[in-house]
Amino acid sequence: MKESNRGAFASKFGLIMALAGSAIGLGNIWRFPFLAGENGGGAFLIIYLALVALVGLPMVLSEFVIGRSSGLDAVKSFKKLAPKTKWYYTGYLAVIIGFVLLAFYSVVSGWAFRFLWESVATGFVGQSAADIKDSFHSFTASLWGPMLTGLVFVGLCALIIAQGVEKGVEKFNKILIPLLFVMLVALCINSVTLDGWGEGMRFLFLPDWSAVTFQTFLDALGQVFFTLSIGMGVMITYASYDKSKGNMVRSKVTVSILDTTVAIISGIAIFPAVFTFGLTPTEGPELVFVTLPNVFAQMPFGWPLAILFFGVLSIAAITSGISILEMLVSIFIERFDMSRRRATIVTSLMTAVLTVLCALSSDIFNFFDMLSSNLLMPLCGLLVAIFVGWFMDKKLRGSTFTTNGQYATAIYPIFVFLIRYVVPISIAFIIVSLI
Ligand code: TRP
Repeated sequence: MKESNRGAFASKFGLIMALAGSAIGLGNIWRFPFLAGENGGGAFLIIYLALVALVGLPMVLSEFVIGRSSGLDAVKSFKKLAPKTKWYYTGYLAVIIGFVLLAFYSVVSGWAFRFLWESVATGFVGQSAADIKDSFHSFTASLWGPMLTGLVFVGLCALIIAQGVEKGVEKFNKILIPLLFVMLVALCINSVTLDGWGEGMRFLFLPDWSAVTFQTFLDALGQVFFTLSIGMGVMITYASYDKSKGNMVRSKVTVSILDTTVAIISGIAIFPAVFTFGLTPTEGPELVFVTLPNVFAQMPFGWPLAILFFGVLSIAAITSGISILEMLVSIFIERFDMSRRRATIVTSLMTAVLTVLCALSSDIFNFFDMLSSNLLMPLCGLLVAIFVGWFMDKKLRGSTFTTNGQYATAIYPIFVFLIRYVVPISIAFIIVSLI
């Protein structure tokens, strides 16, 4: 397939919404609040923000430099930029991570769908805390439920992807992401009216340094990777659809700010409610799926608010899911010379098999999560950083980053320093800490 047939984003707004759609996901609404809850609230937030600037942003920009300068997918980019080397294995690593992460992601997104359904059907009205906990555990442990909802998620992503880059990915993100913002802001406004508002805000913004350990830094860095969709070639793929030649730094800073804002707004929507009803925000992954339904069951207008919240979670999950699937589809189209439709069918069927495995066994589920988020994504990120920092043609790197000297020339040397030293060393810490 020729380069020009690969598809492209039609507008700058579309590009930014697609990037934000990829970044904003379960990571912001499900993962960030529970990690902040476990790691000292505001203290976690400060460490996280510093790592976004020092590691996250340079990583996003690196993937963008690769995708924009090659105009190709995650495998072919390396083949073009470093011919006759083995760097393209980084792209294949991204494919493996993509399948593993998407399977895990589909299962959790399936939970979100199921809770959206439950919210519409009952709004958790009249359920006791024990009922809610039981119903979550019996659902996740059941045979058919998680499998079915996970598969519905994969199917939905496939339907959107099959429409193409502009008519599928871009169009849906342009509608869904602004909608998500409006819905989240509505939830925040409701939060202000609650008795636990002050306590929730103090928890989210006042740092409790006593809860900070070395693990906090690792959790924060892992979260930066996860939430900005780094370390999997997604940004390389989306960058290759960006034909605008605009200011790369500005659009990436915008996306990082949007992403962080959503994480913080989610915290604002969640914590005051949790404190109002005397619950604890340190429940880990169950914060959103057990603690919050309890809140909705007791709150005035809990029913519509529950629909709003799980609607937001489902939308965020879909826009991220399609970015992972798109990365896989783009590689399959090129590698096996397939039509977009066929590549979508093949990749989503493969994902479906892994999703079923993940839904059936919590051991596989945990293993997939650990393997992708903790090990392979940092490894892939490390390879990308070393490639862009040390191996890539310097002139091409500089001209891509600054769009031929038009923008961000003062920032460029800082970027080079971060990507050569700060980023690889930080990532090495994550990997070494696992061994
Ligand atoms: N960023 C998404 C979230 O926060 C998850 C995600 C989408 C992702 N695409 C990715 C993570 C690529 C790593 C790599 O939920």
